[in-house]
Formats: sequence, structure tokens, C-alpha cells
Amino acid sequence: MITEAINERYTSLSETSCCLSCGGAINHAKPQPGETCVDLGSGRGNDVIRLAEEVGENGFVFGIDISEGMIAKANATLEKFEVQNARILKAELESLPLRDDSIHLVISNCTINHASDKPAVWSEVYRILKSGGRFVVSDIYAVQPIAEKYRNDPAAVAECWAGSVTRAEYLTMLEKAGFNDIKIFEESEPYAKGQAEVASFTISGRK
Ligand SMILES: C[S@@+](CC[C@H](N)C(=O)[O-])C[C@H]1O[C@@H](n2cnc3c(N)ncnc32)[C@H](O)[C@@H]1O
Repeated sequence: MITEAINERYTSLSETSCCLSCGGAINHAKPQPGETCVDLGSGRGNDVIRLAEEVGENGFVFGIDISEGMIAKANATLEKFEVQNARILKAELESLPLRDDSIHLVISNCTINHASDKPAVWSEVYRILKSGGRFVVSDIYAVQPIAEKYRNDPAAVAECWAGSVTRAEYLTMLEKAGFNDIKIFEESEPYAKGQAEVASFTISGRK
């Protein structure tokens, strides 16, 4: 149900230019030439293209998304700009079709809050990263725990607020997944979204 609501919402937004990000993960990620990178929830593919330019012909970028419209839009853009070193994969965040210890950098912008099983997502991020590899993620957290009646409401989760966990829960999840060197680059003031008060931050950590 949640996957269907996400596919519906984001397919309808794929041909618009409205901003779907909640921070500047890519601006803090510092991809290096030759690196292999992943963008979780790659949407229209803009960050994938930027990463692909920065890692160059000896690097590679995977975008991961589940919405058909977003995948089609990102593929059309990659084709238009003749990007050879990037590929969009259709997959759930909880089950990444990527090898263990194969990735230098994972980025994500305003996506992990949608996932039903966030510890599984972070465990996957840890699994695919090389030792010493890093993530830089912009995401939304809830100022207070989201009310039970909204937590599994597919439309509310797809709107980027009902799936969010609190800041403390977020940080605990990262620690439990095994990450160290956790840093917060930027953090917003609380703001209203849907039926909740949320905030956004850009956070990094290392395997
Ligand atoms: C808010 S948009 C952000 C898109 C892009 N990162 C940006 O900043 O413009 C969230 C994206 O994540 C994708 N997404 C949401 N939940 C997902 C999941 N469980 N697995 C894979 N992709 C997901 C959506 O299809 C959508 O393209």
C-alpha cells in the first residue's frame, strides 16, 4: 500500500520542477574522481548526474528508486546528456541490488523517511559501503513521535512526514547500524508539515 502511494505521488510529480529535497546532501558529499556512489531515492536524477560528472569516467553512480515515473524521467535525462557512467535501478531501499563492500559514497535526499523498515535500510547502507566509506543524507525527522493513526497512512507517509522518526531515534538507528564519525552539517528550525511538526538535517557517517 505504501509503495503504491509513493509510486502514485512521485510518478505524478516526475514531470514537474517542484523541489523535493530537504537539504544539501550533495553539497557536502565531496565525491572524488573514480569513486562508486549511490543515490537512494534518486527521483528525477539531478543528483545522479552531478555525481557522475564529479566521479568522472573512472567512477560510477547508481540511482535507486521505486517510482516508475521518476525512473523514466531520470533515464530520459541520462540519455539526453549522454551520461555513460550512471544507471538507475528499480529497487526498495530495504533491499539494495548492490554488492557488499562495493560503494565509496551513499547520498540521499528526503527519501529514507518514507521507508517502512528504516533499520533495514541503514543495515543495507552499511553492507554496501566499503570499509571507510561514507554516507551524506538529508532527511526529515519528527519533533515529537508521529501519532499512531498517521504512521502507516500510505498517503501521509508518501508526503514525507508521517514516516519520520524523532531525532533521537534517528541517531540511535545510525549507531546501531554500526556507523561512526557521525556529523550534522545543517539542521533546520522545526516547521509544520501535514499533521506534524518536523525538522530537516543533513547528516553523515562512516563505516
Ligand atoms: C522526496 S523525493 C526526493 C527525490 C530526490 N532525492 C530529490 O531530492 O529531488 C523521494 C524519492 O524517493 C523515492 N522513494 C520513496 N520511497 C522509496 C523506497 N522505499 N524505495 C525506493 N525509492 C523510494 C520516491 O519515488 C522519490 O523519487
